[in-house]
Amino acid sequence: MKAVIVTKFGGPEVLKMADIPIPAIGPDQVLIKVHATSVNFADIKSRYGQYHGASQPPFVPGLDAAGVVETVGSNVTQWHPGQKVIVFPKNGSYAEYVCADAALTFALPPEIDWDTAAACPLVSFTSYKLLHDVARLAPGETVLVHAAAGGIGTTATQLAKILGAGLVIGAVGDPSKIPVSLSAGADHAFCCTSGNFSDQVNDLTHGRGADVILDSIAGSVTGQSLQCLAPYGRLVVFGNASGQPGVVHTTDLHASCRAVLGFSLGTTRNERPELLQDTAEHVMDYLATGHLKMTVGRTFPLSEARAAQEWVENRQSTGKVLLVVSPTRSGGTPV
Ligand SMILES: NC(=O)c1ccc[n+]([C@@H]2O[C@H](COP(=O)([O-])OP(=O)(O)OC[C@H]3O[C@@H](n4cnc5c(N)ncnc54)[C@H](OP(=O)(O)O)[C@@H]3O)[C@@H](O)[C@H]2O)c1
Repeated sequence: MKAVIVTKFGGPEVLKMADIPIPAIGPDQVLIKVHATSVNFADIKSRYGQYHGASQPPFVPGLDAAGVVETVGSNVTQWHPGQKVIVFPKNGSYAEYVCADAALTFALPPEIDWDTAAACPLVSFTSYKLLHDVARLAPGETVLVHAAAGGIGTTATQLAKILGAGLVIGAVGDPSKIPVSLSAGADHAFCCTSGNFSDQVNDLTHGRGADVILDSIAGSVTGQSLQCLAPYGRLVVFGNASGQPGVVHTTDLHASCRAVLGFSLGTTRNERPELLQDTAEHVMDYLATGHLKMTVGRTFPLSEARAAQEWVENRQSTGKVLLVVSPTRSGGTPV
């Protein structure tokens, strides 16, 4: 099969197309013919060897995919060839076929089109977990979303509203991204690259701060976030796009009853996959009913994975960036 390989740790130039064997499936696994996959920021981190649990090169990158069940393992009863699914696969998803545990394979309702299917898995499951399970968002609370025009950002902004948030504030890295955050449903969006963004959040919340802050950037963003986190607020740390760790002092927490929490969908996928079943039901329902709409910024063919990753790495992307693997079947509703 055709696949994209990370030939060694490094910049986008280390990505090469290759012919490799179709992955063999175990008794509890499913083989999927991939229709499309998506670029996640973690793909770039893993290409540099900076992602927790990253494989050693050569490896196929990619964490999620949408496609059609090709064959199933001997113990698998809930899936059969021809079903449309989304998956968190065992092998990388920048490939014509992926192998996934049956428990990490999720049915695609007929209302959901291929672009939505390819865009949604990692960012919609993660955003729901962050807001609903980790931050325990309560109705009317204020949410600050960092990198608000990105894949997680546009999805988490919508989900915050769906889950009953009051004010949603989007912070972006360039003024051109403000309209994208607002289109996703943010009540206010601002560019956070100059000055201390906590002043803007405190002004917008009449000095109280945000109840929930989603921090995927870390470094100085974490410290500034604590300067605009309300009493009883929850700062959820789930990435470090800045490449730097954030620093938290315990004295920032106890008197104000505030909490700093961490989350990783990768760890949850590996250690507690059962926790994703309930998430899948909610997210698929929001997508099928049109309450949640994936923001797709650009679509590339698999052969242009390098350009697609550069687009994300250089902070040019907004929404999700897709890689179409089976070019004969783009767009439209799965039939
Ligand atoms: N823990 C988990 O389970 C989990 C799951 C999915 C994603 N994540 C994390 O969530 C974040 C968003 O992921 P995504 O795939 O949706 O990506 P994305 O938001 O579409 O793209 C990454 C964005 O990060 C921002 N950024 C800030 N500093 C950056 C830097 N130094 N270099 C590059 N980008 C920088 C940029 O937005 P601005 O220009 O607007 O700042 C960029 O557009 C990532 O940090 C990712 O690792 C974590």
